[in-house]
Order: sequence, then C-alpha cells, then structure tokens
Amino acid sequence: MDKDEMISAVPYRVVIITLSDKGSRGERQDKSGALIRQIVEAAGYRMESGVILPDEQELLESELKRLCDEGLADLILTTGGTGFSPRDRTPEATLAVAERLVPGIAEAMRQQSLSITKRAMLSRAVSVIRKKTLIINLPGSPKAVKENLEHIITELRHGLDILTGRDGECGKPAV
Ligand code: MTE
Repeated sequence: MDKDEMISAVPYRVVIITLSDKGSRGERQDKSGALIRQIVEAAGYRMESGVILPDEQELLESELKRLCDEGLADLILTTGGTGFSPRDRTPEATLAVAERLVPGIAEAMRQQSLSITKRAMLSRAVSVIRKKTLIINLPGSPKAVKENLEHIITELRHGLDILTGRDGECGKPAV
C-alpha cells in the first residue's frame, strides 16, 4: 500500500448529535441516533461520538463550533429539530456556524423524500461546511432518518475527499 492508499483507507470520523428535549432528559430512547450509527458504519465510516442535546440553539452552536474548530469530526450528522415547532432551531444553529453553504445535499434529500411523503417539504434541514467539517441536518424520526441518509450517503465520500484534501480534483463524475 502506498501513502495515498493508506490515507484513503482511514475511515472518516462521524459525530452524531440528536436534538431532543425528551431524549436529553432521558425520557425518550434515541432510536434515530442508533440508526444513523448503523447506516454510517455499514458505509465504512467510523462513529467518533454521539450526544443528545436539548433543543437549545446556543448549545448546539457551541458544540458544532467546538467539533469543527478542534478538527474532531469530518462529518457531523444532526437529527431532529428541523420542523416547525417553536423549539426546532437546528437549521438556525447550523447556519449560524456555517462558513460555506452546501444546498445540494439538503435539496437532494427533500427531492427524494417528496416522492415518499409530501410532508418532506416541512423539513427545514440545511447542509453546510465549517473549516474541514461537513454538517448535515436530518429530520428526527427514524423513518425519515433512514429515507434521507440512505439517499445521500454514497455521494458524501467524494465530497469529503475534496473537503479534507484527500482528493484534489473531481475527475469523472460517478454515474
Ligand atoms: N422526510 C422523509 N423522508 N420521511 C418522513 O417521514 N417527515 C417529515 C419531514 N421529512 C419525513 C421527512 C415531517 S412530518 C417533518 S415535521 C419534518 O421532516 C421535520 O422533522 P423534525 O421536526 O423531526 O426534524
């Protein structure tokens, strides 16, 4: 194995953040976080850590900043808090820490999800970059997590290769 092959064999580090007032008080099991872990590990990523936070914008912002600025995650997946309830602030926290927007990932999730349920239009999820970390919001229910994440997971690797500098150019697009 040459140096480039060794670097590309190192799995990307994923941090999962579940936004749930009830979950953070231990009143609800975090099924969506566990499901995200299953899906990302099956796709060859390494789950670095997982945390359940209450729906508090400032808490989420500071956790996202810490993870990105200290280089602790390549990919952060949040679940929950993307809807219309007054305490749903995940997209606002994510946009507040964003350095660059990646609208296509959220667009792709909504496009695919709309063919399953028209309620997909109610997810306000966003996807952004801060430093060398990609942050993606997923809705809160396990069903929505599965439908959204499975649709995007294969294309994320190429984006992460470019973002982290493992790959310098796009080359031929995958079919
Ligand atoms: N996307 C998919 N693929 N499947 C779903 O069942 N549920 C929608 C939407 N996106 C859903 C979905 C619903 S009902 C809501 S309210 C929003 O996600 C926001 O969810 P959240 O508040 O749990 O983040």
